[in-house]
Amino acid sequence: MQPLHLLEKRVLKALEKIGEADIEGLSRASNLTIDQVRRAVEWLQAKGLIKVNTSQKTTFTLGSKGLEALKEGLPERRLLRSLKEGVRALNQLKSRFRDEQEFSAALGRARRRGWVKIVDEVVELVNEPSGLPEEEVLERLAQANILYEDEVSKDDLLYSGVRELLSRPDYLSKRVVKTTKITLTDLGKAALEKISEEEEIDTLTPEIIVSGIWRQKRIRAIDVEAPAPPIYAGRKHPVQLFIDEVREIFISMGFEEIEGPLIQPCFWNFDALFTPQDHPAREMQDTFYIKGEATNYADEESIKRVSATHRDGWKTGSRGWGYEWREEEARRLVLRTHTTSITIRYLADRKPKEARVFTVGRVFRNEKVTFKNLVEFHQIEGIAVGSRLTLRDLMGLLSTFYKRLGLEKVKFWPTYFPYTEPSMQSVVYYDRAGKWIELCGMGIFRPEVTLPFGVKNPVLAWGGGLERLVMMRYNIDDVRELYTNRLSWLRGSPICP
Ligand code: PHE
Repeated sequence: MQPLHLLEKRVLKALEKIGEADIEGLSRASNLTIDQVRRAVEWLQAKGLIKVNTSQKTTFTLGSKGLEALKEGLPERRLLRSLKEGVRALNQLKSRFRDEQEFSAALGRARRRGWVKIVDEVVELVNEPSGLPEEEVLERLAQANILYEDEVSKDDLLYSGVRELLSRPDYLSKRVVKTTKITLTDLGKAALEKISEEEEIDTLTPEIIVSGIWRQKRIRAIDVEAPAPPIYAGRKHPVQLFIDEVREIFISMGFEEIEGPLIQPCFWNFDALFTPQDHPAREMQDTFYIKGEATNYADEESIKRVSATHRDGWKTGSRGWGYEWREEEARRLVLRTHTTSITIRYLADRKPKEARVFTVGRVFRNEKVTFKNLVEFHQIEGIAVGSRLTLRDLMGLLSTFYKRLGLEKVKFWPTYFPYTEPSMQSVVYYDRAGKWIELCGMGIFRPEVTLPFGVKNPVLAWGGGLERLVMMRYNIDDVRELYTNRLSWLRGSPICP
């Protein structure tokens, strides 16, 4: 048999002593708190050692008027008492009651039942009844505090007393309560016989360990399968857990994490990435502009080179976009629309011959929020720089990343970005939805992007949304669900889905 907890043993013993009981009774008999008894009862029940029967019972307890009557007697009894004391004039009698209403109710009742009659403003006692059914009920409640409907229905006197008192406001309150009857099962009785009198260690303390007492006594075994209430400890948000996982993967692949500001001058968000100043992505409908403008956002030389590249290609071998580049446009501030603004700044600052860096961060797009679009979301972004890197390496890198996230089926196909050539889109097969889903955009940065900053080696670059991956992981089909903080989802979502 499973080992018994100390609380269980005490409850079993209490039950043996008092026979059947409810939770309160067990608490009194075992000297345990109600809560401890509840827990033990739950465990014992699960083990089949006790039986718990619950039923509903109608009960009566005294109301405020009832309590008064208990102390002073019923108003009609008080009336009779006054008469016997010689007070008989109506107005004199009235002054002995709380109010007119109490008095006339008492008088009315006494007359109807033939105990008194009124002659010329004076009340005469006709006959004095002995114990009334109502008084019997009060008497019982004085002793027991509570009357159960089933004991009432078996007793005529109580029954009519209760009916009578219920018809008067505030004398009795009628309530339905749940009652519990706990009894030992045969298994429970057998268990009781086996409960060893030998003292067991219930809770290990440092003293017990240090003093070595534990060697001489038995330590209670723990039932690791016993039911227990769920505990909702603080935990990381599922999106954060996923970001941590993405970080782990890139770090394990030899990448280093970088970070950068959420607000960027257009220069780093667009111009440095060879995105023409009239590109649709730059429009207010797509991008959040911020008041003010950037100063000292890049060195003179870089600005000049970017400007020349846009105009005529500068020394990059390109013909450029063929327009007059305006610096005012480049100074404008935006909430970054992609994390590529972070990797290009890294390239411009460090001009690395070799590098492997990534960043995970929030980006902002002025779009309508729907089940698949948020205004604020996360991107995963990275670059690899090295003299012999090719498109194959880029595909290999991304495939490895997806594979480590558990996504095996990956495809690449050509697409267009202003800053990469060739450019590709990666899609992965999402089993549960049975369809291909677009993830990262990628490519090799154009010379128009890298040469103005003095970066000569090929730069493999990629970037894409994070939330889609989280949605696949948690089998969610509305992105908004990730950020509505629905507690049941946050608490219930597995740590390792
Ligand atoms: N910045 C692109 C996007 O937001 C992704 C991308 C990053 C594409 C780097 C190519 C190279 O979708």
